[in-house]
Amino acid sequence: MSGADIEKAAALLKEGKLVAFPTETVYGLGADAASPEALGRLYRVKGRPTDHPVIVHLSSVDKLSEWAGDVPPIAWQLAEAFWPGPMTLILPKADHVLNACTGGQSSVGIRVPAHPLALALLSQFGGGVAAPSANKFGKLSPTTADSVREGLGEEVSMVLDGGPCQVGIESTIISILGATPRILRPGMITREQVQEKLGIPVEIAYKENAIKENDAEIKAPGTLESHYAPDTAVALVPSQDLPFLIAKLNNEGKTFVLLAFENSALMRYQTAAMWVEKNAESYAQNLYQRLKDLDGHKKQFILVEAPPQDCAWDGVNDRLKRAAHGTVI
Ligand code: TXA
Ligand code: MG
Repeated sequence: MSGADIEKAAALLKEGKLVAFPTETVYGLGADAASPEALGRLYRVKGRPTDHPVIVHLSSVDKLSEWAGDVPPIAWQLAEAFWPGPMTLILPKADHVLNACTGGQSSVGIRVPAHPLALALLSQFGGGVAAPSANKFGKLSPTTADSVREGLGEEVSMVLDGGPCQVGIESTIISILGATPRILRPGMITREQVQEKLGIPVEIAYKENAIKENDAEIKAPGTLESHYAPDTAVALVPSQDLPFLIAKLNNEGKTFVLLAFENSALMRYQTAAMWVEKNAESYAQNLYQRLKDLDGHKKQFILVEAPPQDCAWDGVNDRLKRAAHGTVI
C-alpha cells in the first residue's frame, strides 16, 4: 500500500463511498461520519439495523473534543493511556454528530486505532470515519483483507490491505456516561488495566446476566448474544467434559472438529483437531481466522475447549460464548 493508495482511499471517503481498512483489532468498513448518504450506504452494505450505533474513528486524541460534547477528566486519562489502541469510549455526543452514527442515541462511540494504515487514512481524510467491523451483520469479523473481500465483494469501493490484524478481536468499549466507568464489551485492554490506570473501580456489563439487549440505559448491540458466529454450531466445553462428549458424539455418529489446547491429555484422541497455544494474546489474534477455517471443515459441530476464566481471557471468552450461544449438543 502506497501513499497514492491512501490518497485514493481518502478521496473515495470524501465522495461518500465505502473503504475497508485495517485496524489493530479487526478490519473496519469506513464511511464519512459526517455524510448521511455515506452512512446510509454503510448500513445497507453491512445489513445492520439503523438503531445500532457505529464507532467514529479519529486520527488523534486531540480530536476527541470535536466529536464528544463533554469529555470528563477520566475520558482524557483513558485516551492518553490507551490511544492509539484497542479501546472505544462512549461519551455524550457533540451537537453536530449525526443520529445515523449514534443510532439515535445522545452518546457517541469514539476510537483512535493504532494501525499505521488506519492512522494514515484518518489523517489524510481529516474528519471522522464511521466504521463497524467489515463483515455482514452477525458474521465473524474479518482480520485479513481477503476475508473482507470474501464477505463484502464488490459492495466496498476499496480494501486497504494491512496484513493480518495483531489484536484480532474488537476493541474494549468503555462507557463514560455514568458516575462509574462501565465496560460494555471486553477486549484485550482488560478491566484490571483500566482500573489500574484510573485508580477507581470499573463496572462490567458483559458477564452472565449483565447483558440485556433492551437495557434502557445503554445500547451496545454488538453485545447481542448470537453475534460473532460461524455457520457451524459452536460448543464451548470445559476441558474435563471433552472426553465424555467426544465419545458420545462418536457413538452417535455425529461429526465435529475440535479447537483445543496443545499438550493436553486430549491429544491422544485421534480426532480432527486444531491444537493451539494457551496464550490469550495469540489466541485472540487468531480466533476469528481459526473459527473460519474450522467452519470450512463443514462438520456438525466445532467443539471449543473452554479457555481459563482469568481476566486476560475475558475478551476471548466473551466472543466464544456468543459464538456458542444457542448450541444444543
Ligand atoms: O475494534 C473495533 O471496535 C472495531 C474496529 C473496526 O474499530 N469496530 C467494531 O465496530 O467492532 P462494530 O460496529 O462491529 O461494533 C461497535 C460496537 C457495537 O456494539 C455498538 O453497539 C457499540 O460499539 N457502540 C457504538 N456506539 C455506541 C454508543 N453510542 N453507545 C453504546 N454502544 C455503542
Ligand atoms: Mg462487529
